[in-house]
Amino acid sequence: MRFSVLTLFPDMVYASAGYSIFKRGLDQGFVQLDCIDIRDFSANKHRQVDDYSYGGGFGMVMKAQPIYDAYQHALERLGCAASPRVVFLTPAGRPLTQELVAEFAREDALILLCGHYEGVDERVVEEIVTDEVSIGDYVLTGGELAALVLMDAVARLVPGVLGKEGSFAEESFTAGLLEYPQYTRPAEVLGRAVPDVLLSGDHKAVEKWRHEQSLRRTKTRRPDLL
Ligand code: ADE
Repeated sequence: MRFSVLTLFPDMVYASAGYSIFKRGLDQGFVQLDCIDIRDFSANKHRQVDDYSYGGGFGMVMKAQPIYDAYQHALERLGCAASPRVVFLTPAGRPLTQELVAEFAREDALILLCGHYEGVDERVVEEIVTDEVSIGDYVLTGGELAALVLMDAVARLVPGVLGKEGSFAEESFTAGLLEYPQYTRPAEVLGRAVPDVLLSGDHKAVEKWRHEQSLRRTKTRRPDLL
């Protein structure tokens, strides 16, 4: 999977990508990350990338031209035969779900556009964007954190990244239910014991208990998933 991120803050994206499983995916070549600084494509000597909003109102709007030129540069660097999907991270997008994550994970490459200020000139969105995606019903100061969330979720589905293939098959959302509680040694800690069934060695009983726990959690926490 190759990610190309159009951003005003490449260092923020590289820094956050440099940890844990995502970093291992990068180091082992299952994932590639290339950040393109939109500011490098400003036509303005002050490297300005935003301007006032037509129609008035507070807040600046990101200009179309630097984003379009950054996108062309991303395409050149990716060198794809077909144009990759271009995902614009915005609170006005469709919600990011595990289903959409899995769909993205089947792509060879993705271009992610991170907005800032009050918005992005709609004309460049119409021209280049294939998917507008929100990571939740709250407003961030920019798209970078959302892009990192999306890339993290996608990367772990890329074959090889998680090591043991299929170890995510059982997890929350994939099976449609929230995950059951987990325990590790010691058998008693903070005055709390591990549920007996998990020490019983009875695999069938363990499976049944876990499924019941998943169901109970989903009923109380996320009844909308049932
Ligand atoms: N940019 C700002 N807020 C966002 C959100 N909730 N999801 C995606 N991109 C965003």
